[in-house]
Amino acid sequence: MSQYHIKNFEEYFQVYKKSINQPEIFWEEIAEEHFVWHKKWDSVLEWDFSKPEVKWFEGAQLNITENCLDRHLANRGIKTAILFEPNDPNEDAEHITYKQLHARVCKFANVLKDQGIQKGDRVCIYLPMIPELTVSVLACARIGAIHSVVFAGFSSSALSSRINDCDAKMVITSDGAYRGAKTIDLKGIVDEALEDCESVKTVLVAKRIQSDINMKAGRDQWLQPLLDEAYQDFKAEVMEAEDPLFILYTSGSTGKPKGMLHTTAGYMIYTAYTFKNVFQYTEDDIYWCTADIGWITGHSYIVYGPLANGATSVMFEGVPSHPDYGRFWDIVQKHKVNQFYTAPTAIRALAKQGTSWLKDYDLSTLKILGTVGEPINEEAWHWYNDNVGNNKSPIVDTWWQTETGGIMITPIPYATPTKPTYATLPFIGIQPALMDENSKELTENQVQGRLCIKFPWPSMARTIWGNHERYRDTYFSAFKNMYFTGDGALRDEVGYYRITGRVDDVIIVSGHNLGTAPIEDAINEHQAVAESAIVGFPHDIKGNALYGYVTLKDSGESRNHDNLRKEINQLITDRIGPIAKLEKIQFSAGLPKTRSGKIMRRILRKIACQETDQLGDISTLLNPEVVESIIEESKAIL
Ligand code: WTA
Repeated sequence: MSQYHIKNFEEYFQVYKKSINQPEIFWEEIAEEHFVWHKKWDSVLEWDFSKPEVKWFEGAQLNITENCLDRHLANRGIKTAILFEPNDPNEDAEHITYKQLHARVCKFANVLKDQGIQKGDRVCIYLPMIPELTVSVLACARIGAIHSVVFAGFSSSALSSRINDCDAKMVITSDGAYRGAKTIDLKGIVDEALEDCESVKTVLVAKRIQSDINMKAGRDQWLQPLLDEAYQDFKAEVMEAEDPLFILYTSGSTGKPKGMLHTTAGYMIYTAYTFKNVFQYTEDDIYWCTADIGWITGHSYIVYGPLANGATSVMFEGVPSHPDYGRFWDIVQKHKVNQFYTAPTAIRALAKQGTSWLKDYDLSTLKILGTVGEPINEEAWHWYNDNVGNNKSPIVDTWWQTETGGIMITPIPYATPTKPTYATLPFIGIQPALMDENSKELTENQVQGRLCIKFPWPSMARTIWGNHERYRDTYFSAFKNMYFTGDGALRDEVGYYRITGRVDDVIIVSGHNLGTAPIEDAINEHQAVAESAIVGFPHDIKGNALYGYVTLKDSGESRNHDNLRKEINQLITDRIGPIAKLEKIQFSAGLPKTRSGKIMRRILRKIACQETDQLGDISTLLNPEVVESIIEESKAIL
């Protein structure tokens, strides 16, 4: 008898079929069975993608924190809810039980109320990965305030534009942050950002690095003394199912960031249900997602999904390279982690350092590995599978978006046979469609098209804060009555999906559509290559030609570049065909990345097109300094 929730492939198909044939009955049963409500719903689903308007569980009343905290107190009061692993491995880990987390959230909720925060107010949270981050997120939810977490690596201008977009009344931050061997002056960044933010009346400051900072009288307050005074119970605000829960900003292809708005009941149900099934979570498991809570992955799969299941969720403050490249594996061993969820960029970075960093650690507790955020290339998939999973832990390649709130396409571990680089099949309740350029749905297998979703799911974003029109234009206007993801995908002969990358990354060469991901996969197979990115640039005859940026492993740096170029193009010719050969190959020291680890092809494209005067804002990059050297190197590429 399998210990897992979905026990095998047949069961997945059965449950999937029911979720598609009778979606309302399906989700209603889940809502009835797994959650606590103040009042049940009047209707399960009302929707109209042309407006677009989607409402799940209208009429229901609840508070998400009662589902994440209070109801676990009876049976899981002394179970660890958040297992905090600090940046410094010599600092003790903190095991915060459900009872303690409940008390801390209630105290924080009382502080927010005392500071004048009301239901519906926006609170901006700009904190490192310390327990106060989880506590403040839940405290906002407890009082019905809308949290807007801004990743604590964004610059002051990125922060102020996010604060102003939603008119946040309060900012919660800390004196500073640890990041590996460095410290970051968070409060200084907040001070700079707030020079342009009139809506903010109060700043609450947590102490983390004990630095000497400025406190502005009448605005800034230390958090701890307020918490010490606060009462440790707080009656949760009763929320309507469709009341806003949070805003989370995501970058658009143009213009200012989009404040994706998520609401209460549907988000709770879907993140909880996906967490349980995608990670096959069972009661005593230790689960670790390495993302930052500043991203949707952290919201849904460090905080809400795990806590709604009464799980133990590891929260890591540091980085994978500090004090050395064995840190992730040290944590897995130390806390006996069972599920490990990370990003392909982290896997590639660790793979580049070689396997010697793993060999001293016991990783035998791992049962399930996950990836998210970008297509995982074949080489990284195998490295992860062989060296971390020891060929026994299934890899769930989970495709989803800030906009979708939860995982959309993924294998179910121990049920769905995995296939490298394929996110495989839709999660329960999800109805994907592939569309061609003429807005026709491609219904057969072995096709490639634009990935859309045909039917609402509970955790979809309901709007862009303050700009419903942009929401409609971005997601619901390309294809009638469909949510358009902006991604391309192919469906193989058995119906498995492979995400080929953003549609804006598709390059048409001599009339052939080429996805960047498969070409990059081919390049990355070369044993001297660490990472690569492909962009298009104008070409007299082909329309577009391909420009490849390649970073080399240490072992490749002494190699003859002309030979390497030939070998790379031979690999591409072998894997895809001569049509995908690169016109130009530039070896660079690094690639420009967003804070969440995505390669910024937009910038590389401009450099390849020699439009370096139009790079746009590069200040929010993880490594803005690399751009200058790439421009320099590009001048030598003919
Ligand atoms: C990409 C992250 C391939 C995709 C949860 C999507 C992926 C965008 C995968 C959303 C995956 C995410 N395979 N591509 N498993 N997961 N993506 O909003 O292009 O930060 O549209 O959400 O990341 O990024 P976001």
